[in-house]
Amino acid sequence: MRAIQFDRYGAPSVLVCREIDRPACGPRDVLVRVRAAGTNPKDCLVRKGKFRWFTGRRFPMGLGHDFSGTVAAVGRQVAAFQVEDAVFGMTNGWQGRAYADYLTVRPSETALKPSPLEFTAAAAVPLAAQTALQALRDLGGLSGNQRVLINGSSGGVGTFAVQVARILGARVTAVCSGRNADLVHDLGAHRVIDYTREEIRHLGASFDVFFDVFGNCRFPDIRAVLKPNGRFISTVPGVPVMRWSILSRLSSGPRAHLVIVKSKTGDLQTLGRWIEEGRLVPVVDRVYPLADAQEAHAYIETKRARGKVVLQIA
Ligand SMILES: NC(=O)c1ccc[n+]([C@@H]2O[C@H](COP(=O)([O-])OP(=O)(O)OC[C@H]3O[C@@H](n4cnc5c(N)ncnc54)[C@H](OP(=O)(O)O)[C@@H]3O)[C@@H](O)[C@H]2O)c1
Repeated sequence: MRAIQFDRYGAPSVLVCREIDRPACGPRDVLVRVRAAGTNPKDCLVRKGKFRWFTGRRFPMGLGHDFSGTVAAVGRQVAAFQVEDAVFGMTNGWQGRAYADYLTVRPSETALKPSPLEFTAAAAVPLAAQTALQALRDLGGLSGNQRVLINGSSGGVGTFAVQVARILGARVTAVCSGRNADLVHDLGAHRVIDYTREEIRHLGASFDVFFDVFGNCRFPDIRAVLKPNGRFISTVPGVPVMRWSILSRLSSGPRAHLVIVKSKTGDLQTLGRWIEEGRLVPVVDRVYPLADAQEAHAYIETKRARGKVVLQIA
């Protein structure tokens, strides 16, 4: 089968498309014939070696966590799926393998694909939409009539976050560049702020939840626009957010959190139900053939994607 691999950390040019053996389906595995693989900034960071503490130095390495496809085989302990089921999901952990014709996944990382979506659009959903859901619902506790600000609202996670916040009943302020204002407005944002023209810190509003998807905001600066029991949630790991998270627990007032997405069948099913009801729609910016993974990574690294970038495989 074909798979995208790399033999050293580095620029997109380290990615190569090779023929390798199809993975064996273990007793607790589902073997998926991949039809499309979603790409994420995480894949680029892994390729660059930014997570080498977790990914190690055993090359060649594969890439990719988001997938959609059909079940090619199930392990003898798997009851939840059958051969030919159309599925989508995200593999947990650091070693991605979805940029390939086949991959094995655990049933707990997988759900039936929502029927209105083509495989390409379905592969755009799992990592980004689960991040939005787990940040806003679980860490933010977002509920009806609360106010949320989403910074980085036009990217992969942001386009889902705007819609998820609306589904949860919140009033949404979305921050992006002016060229994407119409997009996020059409996704349901009540108010759109162009960050090239307005300073978030000086909005004069107060929010229940501030979701910093892009990751360029500092909690100490954002406290001014948070309600006393408000939540600041960042997607970008690092020492500052860990420090803000710990310190904010030691005093009263707004809290800071880091979201770390985990793939769960229940959350994929929730998102799938919203998609089937027509309330959640993935925004796919570009689709590349598997062999053009280098170009896909170069595009993601511009940090200008509008929604998701997907690799078409079968
Ligand atoms: N911790 C986790 O579990 C987790 C999960 C998912 C993602 N992440 C991280 O979250 C970040 C975002 O992921 P993503 O998939 O949404 O990325 P993405 O799709 O690459 O984000 C692209 C978007 O960023 C926006 N942007 C660029 N400069 C900006 C600025 N100065 N202010 C606000 N927005 C700006 C762009 O909008 P404009 O062109 O309109 O500026 C573009 O639409 C990444 O760092 C990723 O690694 C973490």
